[in-house]
Amino acid sequence: MKQVAILGYGTVGSGVAQILEDNKEIIKKRTSEEINVKYILDLRDFPGDIFEKKVVHDYSIIVNDPEVDIVVETMGGIDIAYKFTKEALLKGKSVCTSNKAVVAEHGPELLKTAKDNSCSYLFEASVGGGIPIIRPLYTSFPGEKVEEIVGILNGTTNFMLTKMDEEGCKYDDVLKEAQAKGYAEQNPEADVCGHDACRKIAILTSLSMGKTVYYQDVKTEGITNITKADFEYAKKLGRSIKLLGMSKNLDGKCLALVAPFMIDAKNPLYSVRDVFNAVCVKGNMVGDTMFYGQGAGKLATASAVVSDVIDLAKNAGKNIECPWEDIKADMATDAEKKFKYFIRVKGKDIKGIEQFAGVENTIEAVDGEIGVITSIMSEDKFMEMKEKNADSILNYIRIL
Ligand code: HSE
Repeated sequence: MKQVAILGYGTVGSGVAQILEDNKEIIKKRTSEEINVKYILDLRDFPGDIFEKKVVHDYSIIVNDPEVDIVVETMGGIDIAYKFTKEALLKGKSVCTSNKAVVAEHGPELLKTAKDNSCSYLFEASVGGGIPIIRPLYTSFPGEKVEEIVGILNGTTNFMLTKMDEEGCKYDDVLKEAQAKGYAEQNPEADVCGHDACRKIAILTSLSMGKTVYYQDVKTEGITNITKADFEYAKKLGRSIKLLGMSKNLDGKCLALVAPFMIDAKNPLYSVRDVFNAVCVKGNMVGDTMFYGQGAGKLATASAVVSDVIDLAKNAGKNIECPWEDIKADMATDAEKKFKYFIRVKGKDIKGIEQFAGVENTIEAVDGEIGVITSIMSEDKFMEMKEKNADSILNYIRIL
């Protein structure tokens, strides 16, 4: 029998306990032994809950219990979650987590600690909720050079943008709806400013490149500037607006970015609606692949955590190798990032833009302004042009 301790009995942690209980027989067949929840660490008590007797409030009980094989970290936050994870790994206890913040901040160090202590650190649920994407990246594509990853990595913002696109809703109204449905927090910054997607693309890219992409080095723009007017232009162009996390391997240099993009109907991400997530991975041999599913939610996310628990149970006493080293990836500069840009210009004077960028197309959708699509230009030139024309540029969105 393998003994598991769950740290944090919130949405995901309670989902993990539920799946381990409800699917006990299925899981036993896969692991050839039972997986038992021995402890649940939480500050609260849960009277009436089927796991109420397993609740403890002191982590030392768990970390000092030699019977505990696997620690499930579903606490959230960074400092204490990191501390508890490190302590467990140092004692040879394997850890799995849904905590993208800890993985993005301390991933390579914790992977090394696991290796040095003949145990493992897994984090399937940290990106894309229930979508299997982490394990496929390093187990299904070991013979591939991953050239590109592009994904809708945040369910809350995808819900909001879908509503704005399909129902013509205003940003403030959809944000309120996302909060009422429990998708967005009262402070929605992590989602709407792109921080959540930024950590996720940093993790995916680190895994695909084998080196560390620090989330602080990923240029990140959220959706807070996206308006109804932007969608009116997008419609005229047969496009939608999606918040994408993207990375490209440019001959060993990493281009990584989180930003809203205008994408056309031929792009498979166009039809990813509502709270769903999807990740497109392009390998140099396999070509285009796509992973799709629920990027958040109790049982979807817990399902990914349980897949790690099973992997850990089957590989007890061994280290599951993860190709992510504590070496900083070489990042592409803004001069090496090239896109077409859609720009909304107040008063229709596009001379300043023409001089810098070259204009491929103009679109009229809103009174008193004009939409412009530039030819392909580098990000640094675009930013210089934007600065020089700050008075007339109302908004811009990159085009894919
Ligand atoms: N806030 C995240 C989202 C949840 O909306 O996708 C999972 O990371």
